[in-house]
Order: sequence, then C-alpha cells, then structure tokens
Amino acid sequence: MHLSSSLSYSCCFHCSFVPKFTKSKRLQVDRSTRHSTLLVASTQTASNPMTKVPRNPNLAKLEAGYLFPEIARRRSAYLESHPDANIISLGIGDTTQPIPAHVAQKMAEKALALATPEGYSGYGPDLGEAELRKKISQRLYGGKVDIDEIFVSDGAKCDIGRLQMMFGSGVVIAVQDPSYPVYVDSAVIVGQTGAKNGQLYENIRYMSCLPENNFFPQLDKVPRADIIFFCSPNNPTGAAATREQLEKLVRYARNNGSIIVYDAAYAPFIRAKQVPHSIFEIEGADEVALECNSFSKYAGFTGVRLGWVVCPKKLRYADGSLVHKDFRRIFTTCFNGASNIAQAGGLAVLDDMGMEQVERLTDYYLENANILSRTMQSLGFKVFGGENSPYVWVQFPGRTSWDVFEEILEKAQIVTVPGSGFGPGGESFLRLSAFASREHCLEAKSRLEKIFGK
Ligand SMILES: Cc1ncc(COP(=O)(O)O)c(C=O)c1O
Repeated sequence: MHLSSSLSYSCCFHCSFVPKFTKSKRLQVDRSTRHSTLLVASTQTASNPMTKVPRNPNLAKLEAGYLFPEIARRRSAYLESHPDANIISLGIGDTTQPIPAHVAQKMAEKALALATPEGYSGYGPDLGEAELRKKISQRLYGGKVDIDEIFVSDGAKCDIGRLQMMFGSGVVIAVQDPSYPVYVDSAVIVGQTGAKNGQLYENIRYMSCLPENNFFPQLDKVPRADIIFFCSPNNPTGAAATREQLEKLVRYARNNGSIIVYDAAYAPFIRAKQVPHSIFEIEGADEVALECNSFSKYAGFTGVRLGWVVCPKKLRYADGSLVHKDFRRIFTTCFNGASNIAQAGGLAVLDDMGMEQVERLTDYYLENANILSRTMQSLGFKVFGGENSPYVWVQFPGRTSWDVFEEILEKAQIVTVPGSGFGPGGESFLRLSAFASREHCLEAKSRLEKIFGK
C-alpha cells in the first residue's frame, strides 16, 4: 500500500468517529493523540458495533486474564503505591543470563553474511536446515530420530498452537493439573472444550499431580483422552518423571489408543541419571507420542525464538493415516520457517563448545534453584522441584496462592507466581523461578528469611 493511500485510509477511519467529538476536541486530534483516539474508538465499538462479524465463541469461554498479565498488573499497582520499591522477580519463567558468547558470535556472522551476495539466503527448507536437524538428531536423540521427523520451529508455544490446530475440535485432551496454561487455553480456543464450570473446563481430563502421588497422575483413575499433554521436567511443579513413570505413561497411551504430546522444554536441566531427556527413550513411544522442545531454556533463546517438534513417521490416526503428513501440511501452511539467524545459533548451541557453554548456563540456574529451595526448606516449608528443574514449588497449607503472593510482594517486594494460576491442583502452592541473577536470588533469600524466619 502506498503511504498516501494508507494515510487517507486512516484519515477516513478517524472521520467516522468525528461526530463523537466537539469541534475544539476534533482540532486537538494530532499525531500524538491518534493512538488514544483509536483506543476511544475501539471502546465505542463495544457498545455500538461497527461490523457484523460474530466473535469466535470459544474465545469468550476463556478466562478474562491470562496469569502473567494479572501478575504484571498487581506488580504495577504495587509500584504505583510504593514507587521506591526495589522489586525482585522470581516470577515469569524468562531467562535472564546472556546467550553464550560462542553462540551469539555465530548468529552475528550469519547476520553479516546475509549482507553479501554469497551469504544471502531467503526462505529456507520447510522443516528447517538439514544440518541443524541432523545435529538435533545426533546430539539430543543419539541418532534414534530420523531427520525428516524433526520440524524446526520458532518455539514450543507456537508448536503447541499448531498441534492443536491439527488435532482440531473433535478430540478430548488430558492435562496434568497443575500445568503450563497454554495446553488448556489452546484447547479452548480451537473448540475442544465446553464452558468453564467452576475451575474446570468441560471435556478436559485433569490429571491430578500432587505431593501425595509424587506429581505423577494415577493413570488408572484417568478416563480415556485422545491427546495427553505431559510436561517433564514439569512447569510449574518442577517434577521430573522417572523412566518407570514414563514407561507407565507410554503403556497407558498404547492401551488406550491415545497420543502423548510430550513437552520437554526443560530437559536441559535434567542431571539425574534415572530421568529420561526425551519420551523417545521409552520403547514403543514412537507409535504413540510427539515431542515439543525448545532452545529457549537451553541457551537463553526466549527472545531469539527457536524450537522443534519430533513427529515420528510411525504415529498414525485411527484411520491409519500418518500424523506426520498432517503436521507437515499444518506446519507449511501456518509457518514459513525458523529465522536463518536463529538456526545458525541453534547449530552453535549443539557443537562441542556450545554444549559446554549451555551446560554452564543451566548449572547457574540450577544453583539458583538450589539456593531458593534450601532457603524455603530451612524456613520450615515443604518444597518440591528445583532439582532437575529451574522451578521450585512451595506448599503453603491452608492458604490461597494469591494470598501468599500478595504477602510476599507486600513484605519482601518479591514477585512470585501463584500456583492456582496453573490449575486448581496448584492452589496453596507458589512457584519460584530460578531464572534470575545470583545476586537477586541471594537478596530474595535474605528477604524471605526476614519475613518467614522465627
Ligand atoms: C512447559 C513449557 N512449554 C513451552 C514453553 C514455551 O517455550 P518457547 O519459548 O519455546 O515457546 C514454556 C515457556 O515457558 C513452558 O514453560
């Protein structure tokens, strides 16, 4: 669109709201107020619809606020009334430490090469650069996964959305309770659920994961679901499923004809030998599981954006057709390939120097988790996770999560995440994230000792 036509279009757009303003107010509408005028316009639309487009009713089923915006709102409200507060965030699971230098260097080289005729490249191969897929297969799956089964993407969250679009509205999903909210929200958006009844959506199987069952669901009590979302190491509980537990899960899926969507975004934090890094370490999983994974937590790529899905070619629907074929169709329709610069970074993460540097990075966060976990234990709380995971899950029996969240924000100026935001099974828990600087973790330790120490 030419600049002039876009300007005249936006001009007309404003004109349609002119009757709402007095003449003098209209004169005040200049570039600086254009944005607020548009906000006024969209507010007006709510009571006085301008279009005949029906709203997607599934979106209306979602709760008004996603967890993290609500936390941000409460943090801002606190800062407004305490402008000098020095807030520490152990909240959102975003990485804070720099990308390893070797990896950043390779991305910079790729970016500069794009400015040369020899180094320029446009759209890449549909499923990602072959060299990167080969490296993922060799380094992370011991060569057990075929490179054509690896779909390189812009991150695990986007992949969960694309997988849900592929499964469509006719399936029933099961989730761990508590769990990463994206599984449930995406299920609601694509129409897999009914309305929300109290805290639960109709047509979702919630698999309770509590200290009483070692955070592994009692599968014989779970009614059959088509798709089982399973995250290990888990966000938010920090629980990492053992080989025996994953064998049970795969057996359950095979017996019930279900597909597991295994979210291994936190696999780089696993240090215990008995904890598998991938569902494909379990025999028979390639006929019943897909795996989502990500460079976000491996290498500080939350902003760079790079992930992948493993979709085995043996995985079939009830009619015998290949899930791989459908996922390829969805992937190439809704996505045009991961950034070539990000892929150069991914390749560097997986070479010898990269692997060494990212291990140091994940060790750093694990030491933070250890500090937070020991602090809360020494204060007499029951603490879970924090070992093969960057998340520490703390229990506050008899209290609501939001109540404890408010107390810690008010008295210690620390932002945490209320467990109830991850599902009813998270009530009375708080998630502490180790994705902070060491300095902040040590400061948090001394503040927590002050408020909870005897
Ligand atoms: C369990 C889980 N899966 C996926 C993601 C999203 O990862 P990505 O940054 O690759 O989209 C997150 C992010 O916090 C997560 O906690």
